[in-house]
Amino acid sequence: MKLRTAMIFVLAMGISGMANAAGEIIVKFSHVVAPDTPKGQAAEKFKQLAEKLTKGKVRVEIYPNSQLYKDREEIEALQSGAVQMLAPSMAKFGPMGAREFELFDMPFLFPNQETLHRVMDGEVGKKLFAKLDTKGVTGLAFWDNGFKQMSSNKPMHSVSDLNGLKMRIQSSKVLSAQMKTLGANPQVMAFSEVYTALQQGVVDGTENPVSNFYTQKMNEVQKHMTMSNHGYLGYAVIVNKAFWEGLPADVRAGLTQAMKEATAFEREIAQKDNDDALARVIAAKTTTVYQLTPAERAEWQKVLLPLQKEFESVIGADLIQSVNTTAAQVAKEQAAATAAPAKPAAKAAAKK
Ligand code: LMR
Repeated sequence: MKLRTAMIFVLAMGISGMANAAGEIIVKFSHVVAPDTPKGQAAEKFKQLAEKLTKGKVRVEIYPNSQLYKDREEIEALQSGAVQMLAPSMAKFGPMGAREFELFDMPFLFPNQETLHRVMDGEVGKKLFAKLDTKGVTGLAFWDNGFKQMSSNKPMHSVSDLNGLKMRIQSSKVLSAQMKTLGANPQVMAFSEVYTALQQGVVDGTENPVSNFYTQKMNEVQKHMTMSNHGYLGYAVIVNKAFWEGLPADVRAGLTQAMKEATAFEREIAQKDNDDALARVIAAKTTTVYQLTPAERAEWQKVLLPLQKEFESVIGADLIQSVNTTAAQVAKEQAAATAAPAKPAAKAAAKK
């Protein structure tokens, strides 16, 4: 009987990942950024919550800064079961055959965070996760980083300033088209290699939210940063499907709750993290930070807007349309909310 129980346990572990000598289920969570980024801190939060809510049945091991795997390798490692959990940026799902995630790379498509969250948490998010299902991957949550800024060793005000610059990008066709449309020369490169590539002049510049820029010390090797907010960088938290489905129901429920709470925490801190990182970049005085004027931003926007049409067939016209509809709805609600407080004042004035 004892042997049978032991065999069942071993079989279950075969599906649900490795257990250590203490019988804990190990969740290896690999990622490519620093621990003190929005993703790094949320991974840590998830670990604490997961271990608490599963009453010690799970141990989460976090491997930050590409310690275990670089961008592309980590997705292969998840699919093969070498690690159980990742949070790659949406720009990194293309090579596994899920180009629809590049919706989130589309420049100037998302006007604000509210629109982003509604899209992620609604039908579009569900559709994207369904796409992963056929690839042995289960999507658990969407995490924020923030809007991206452009950096290089020369000032970038008008679009023509990017002409001929070699710009590092993530492995996304939308980002490649974005850089080409701006007149730059895109170079796909793993995140862990960007600092050295900038230092050695292999590439001239890059794009990222400031939290990534600062925690990778890119301010040491980039003289200029333009606050262009031209596109977004966020994450899909994913697990190996066989691992997830093989977990005992109570453990999966604990991890689901832990992810829910870690996600709320992550979305809460992301913007502040980027604001703090910007203050540190400015204080370090190694990078000149430039704010695009409204007219300059309008020029970037005008140049990049045609990409939405161009990529309809890759990403899906319905997905792009859905973002535009959500954005219009959010704008309408925000306008109504700003107009609302004026009502009592108007009434008071009418009474006089
Ligand atoms: C990048 O490669 O620039 C980012 O995706 C890194 C990250 O995960 O935030």
